[in-house]
Amino acid sequence: MNSSDTDKKDIVLRLNDIQKSFGSVTILSDVNLSIVKGETVVILGRSGTGKSVILKCIIGLLRPDSGSVELFGQQFLNLSEKEENKLRIKIGFLFQSGALYDSMTVRQNLEFPIIRQPDYKKSDLSPKVIEQLKNVGLEESIDKVPSELSGGMQKRIGLARTLMLDPQIILYDEPTTGLDPFTSNEISHLILSMQNKYNVSSLIVTHDMACAKLVADRIVVLKDGKFAAEGTYEELEKSEDEFVKGFFEFS
Ligand SMILES: Nc1ncnc2c1ncn2[C@@H]1O[C@H](COP(=O)(O)OP(=O)(O)O)[C@@H](O)[C@H]1O
Ligand SMILES: [Mg+2]
Repeated sequence: MNSSDTDKKDIVLRLNDIQKSFGSVTILSDVNLSIVKGETVVILGRSGTGKSVILKCIIGLLRPDSGSVELFGQQFLNLSEKEENKLRIKIGFLFQSGALYDSMTVRQNLEFPIIRQPDYKKSDLSPKVIEQLKNVGLEESIDKVPSELSGGMQKRIGLARTLMLDPQIILYDEPTTGLDPFTSNEISHLILSMQNKYNVSSLIVTHDMACAKLVADRIVVLKDGKFAAEGTYEELEKSEDEFVKGFFEFS
């Protein structure tokens, strides 16, 4: 195997020249990004600049106007629905809001993504639910409904549910937004420990610089529809660029 084959194999996600407009407004003009196995990339960017749009293009909730999304070496666009679903179950996502089903217990919420798969094994369900609740330290909440849990606990259950399908990449949309600093810190550490435990790749949109510092292998900064800067936390912290500096000033 030559080195380019090896490179390709290790790339979990690749975005090539993604463009996306809504009406006459161009949101993404030229987004390029590669993430390798086990890598954690944080996206920084001002509100309303297209960070969530990028995540939605990756999971197929939105279709880019041009460019390509490659997952695990396979083109994601132009697949049949069946093939697309097969790829999609390898992607976990944790959205900002509306993560859990209010009328279901924690157990039912965690079982839900699994029982939708045509070939799941019923005997695997309970041990898996327990394993993931243990991961997030919430075994005792198994029979509760979301309204009985705090915001931080709901986020942890959301993460546990995301992990139920053994994703190879997890997309997080502002995982700590709306939480107090103590709880944010707990969630950030949980994200980090799950990454270490399962060697999963992650793409995380956040404004929480403490979270970025803790979890990011690499940070990309979205500006005017493309990634305008890239580096480790320590590299970008020293940036002379006024826009990049703005993210670090309050951290
Ligand atoms: N489905 C949509 N239809 C029209 N406009 C949208 C849609 N989704 C997002 N937008 C617009 O695209 C811009 C970027 O949105 P978003 O990605 O949610 O920003 P953020 O960087 O804060 O996550 C916003 O101006 C938003 O109004
Ligand atoms: Mg957003």
